[in-house]
Amino acid sequence: MKILSICGSPRRGNSEAILLELQKIFKSKGVDNEIILLRQQNINRCHGCIEICNPAGVCCQQDDVKSIIDKMVQSDGLIIISPNYFQMPPGILKDFMDRTCIIFASGKDKILKFKKTAIIAVGADEAKESEVCAENIANLYCRYVGKVVAIKAFQTHSELKGNYDDVFTSGLNPSIKSDLQTIVEALLK
Ligand SMILES: Cc1cc2nc3c(=O)[nH]c(=O)nc-3n(C[C@H](O)[C@H](O)[C@H](O)COP(=O)(O)O)c2cc1C
Repeated sequence: MKILSICGSPRRGNSEAILLELQKIFKSKGVDNEIILLRQQNINRCHGCIEICNPAGVCCQQDDVKSIIDKMVQSDGLIIISPNYFQMPPGILKDFMDRTCIIFASGKDKILKFKKTAIIAVGADEAKESEVCAENIANLYCRYVGKVVAIKAFQTHSELKGNYDDVFTSGLNPSIKSDLQTIVEALLK
């Protein structure tokens, strides 16, 4: 069993801290869990040249996107975590999503649309605000990529001031540990 986690934050922040906590839970259950930090990957922006990639079935750009898509296909479940930037994902995550458009031309959409997927968002506003970001990803991107089994949002202090995991320490998310357990259970069910 393998779960792939994709971190959409451009910094070492709360998104990453949450994925590390989830990884501990997976490890305790004997489940393999790889975390991909998009900020550490070489991901070019989509050129929009679908007249080339559609007939060819491959993207004309050679960077890390192909190997990430292959890992998505090979996984048993996905987690996508996104900071809330104006109720949307940050550019780094949107760039990655745009590049996954190649799944249609390559036929991988038929596999990915059935992949159990959890969507998590974090933001400085109340969790219900960042839930909009999570739902936007779930309702719009995951119409094509992933079968959503969990949607959750958490509140952060936003300014890290030397910490990177205030989502756990601030007291703003009193049930975060059990919420993460619930997400894991939904993915492993
Ligand atoms: C460009 C930008 C836009 C943001 N917009 C929002 C927002 O609309 N709502 C919100 O709750 N937080 C917003 N934030 C705060 C981030 O969501 C918050 O800092 C979050 O912790 C970032 O996730 P990270 O710690 O994983 O990097 C914004 C931050 C940035 C840099």
